[in-house]
Amino acid sequence: MCGIIGYTGSKKSVPILIEGLRTLEYRGYDSAGVTVAEGGCLSTVKSKGRLTDLEGKLKRNAELTGSCGIGHTRWATHGEPSDTNSHPHTTDNLALVHNGIIENYAEIEEMLRGAGYAFVSETDTERAAKLLDMLFVKSGDPLDAIRRATKVIRGSYAFGIIFKGYEDVIYAVRKDSPLIVAHNDEGGFIASDIPAILKHSTSYYRLDEGVIAKISKSSLEFCDLSLTPVEQKLETIDWNIEQAQKGGYPHFMIKEIHEEPEAIRKTLEPRIKDGLPHFGIDALDGDLLSSFDSIHIVACGTAMHAGLVGKAIIEKLARVPVNVEIASEFRYRDPILRKNDLVILLSQSGETADTLAALRHSKACGVYTLAIVNVIGSSVAREADSVLYTWAGPEIAVASTKAYSVQCALLYLLAIRMALANHKLDEANARHICDMMLQKIPSAVEKALTLSDKIYDVATMLVAAEHLFYIGRDIDYALSVEASLKLKEISYIHSEAYAAGELKHGTISLITDGIPVVALTTVSNVCEKTVSGIREVKSRGAYVVSVCAESLVGKYDIPCDEMLVIPDIDEILAPFPAATVMQLLAYHVSALKGLDVDKPRNLAKSVTVE
Ligand code: G6P
Repeated sequence: MCGIIGYTGSKKSVPILIEGLRTLEYRGYDSAGVTVAEGGCLSTVKSKGRLTDLEGKLKRNAELTGSCGIGHTRWATHGEPSDTNSHPHTTDNLALVHNGIIENYAEIEEMLRGAGYAFVSETDTERAAKLLDMLFVKSGDPLDAIRRATKVIRGSYAFGIIFKGYEDVIYAVRKDSPLIVAHNDEGGFIASDIPAILKHSTSYYRLDEGVIAKISKSSLEFCDLSLTPVEQKLETIDWNIEQAQKGGYPHFMIKEIHEEPEAIRKTLEPRIKDGLPHFGIDALDGDLLSSFDSIHIVACGTAMHAGLVGKAIIEKLARVPVNVEIASEFRYRDPILRKNDLVILLSQSGETADTLAALRHSKACGVYTLAIVNVIGSSVAREADSVLYTWAGPEIAVASTKAYSVQCALLYLLAIRMALANHKLDEANARHICDMMLQKIPSAVEKALTLSDKIYDVATMLVAAEHLFYIGRDIDYALSVEASLKLKEISYIHSEAYAAGELKHGTISLITDGIPVVALTTVSNVCEKTVSGIREVKSRGAYVVSVCAESLVGKYDIPCDEMLVIPDIDEILAPFPAATVMQLLAYHVSALKGLDVDKPRNLAKSVTVE
């Protein structure tokens, strides 16, 4: 997803812009560019490829020394990755960077062509730049031009703009795409996300929709779209630079997997009071949870897979039917939402466009919405009726790990609270599970982390595979789906997750000599059945990696080539260390293949377009 940085101050802007863009690389990009105000001119350098390509080009150009500039990393949506399509997009009068999608760009283009404008790129952004140009030429006033442009443009945007004649000022405005603003003695900044400004500021404003920011070296002003001054809330950054960097690990992903015990602790502790789940800190009345007849969990990717674990545990404990939905499907298929339904939106970033749209659709249907989100103040968090924050800290690797674990942890707490409210669980049992969650999950995950060397050895046996299967039943199937996604997204090995009992209805025809099958067994009452499934694939030549709960190892004769034993923990909590083991397996396979673990090809961390 595109990344934006802007700086205006007394230092040279290029190093600050490049450094800022580097911290946004995790968002995924295919080209980059900067515009710097230099002696009355706006000088722009853009390049397809990585930031190093842009730096090379900058070095070959005459040095850009100006102290006001904007930079961008582009993740192509309209038009292929190319120098021309990269941002900033410039006109005779301005330079503009954009994150989002302008839906009515064709209409805008037609209108602009009528006014004599021509276009060089295929991007929706260039249409926005030229629209602003036309409006600016008319009024000579940047704020007025922006205000009028927002009335014409439909779609999502975070814009950073520098106008000729106002070369020490950055203007910013946003709708549906994130943008933050910071200001201090060093000057002013805009950015798509906190890591880009962490080095410079400990506080920031998350720009509200419909607010224009005007940022210069010495001042910061906000106004609404009628150009009336408004205030924005100053927020403090409680992430330090180390947290947002790799902290000695070779990749963000492995660092973030190691942060799971702490993240789970941080997320659970404040929500367990007198031994029972309590959402006072989130201003959520637990009794409200008893008023819902059914639940829809709506999310994308890994967050949706955490929803599958949530469904298993909520249905098991609270006996409330749960429907897990892919957000991009939910929003378009006119889902049946009834008055007493609850929609839970899961999202690490809180900015995923499909999840946000599903939230808005649910609200429009008059249904209560509860968000479980990691990024504080993000769009999903702000728009939902209630929000539970997962305090996992920044997650930089594209492949989500710790965010998944904490989403599962919160869904467990919700399940217990609902089960209590529905009288499906008595207080003593609820207390017991909460106590176990606090006492045992972090330590079992810590133990799972110590298996890393053994998991590495197993990974060496899988690196050459072209296809791979994960099987399990019940909650093990839910875990398999995520394990499979984790492997395919970062190792590029084709993998599929199958409910162990379903394999024989078709997919078993793909099992031939040496095809790896990772078989999960943590659920005792279906273990025997899963073992039958394992026998079926083993007898057809599969290379079986068993991932088995310690308590089940001796009980069943599991035919396998390798075994990873999940640290001992009460069965109901086994998904936590099991998920960590699966994440480590995917990580090691990807790292062994020498792939870009943190930034897999074609993927973006935060998908803010449909
Ligand atoms: C992208 C990421 C996934 C993530 C999904 C949902 O596809 O690559 O890792 O699970 O978006 O993101 P969210 O921020 O809503 O959890």
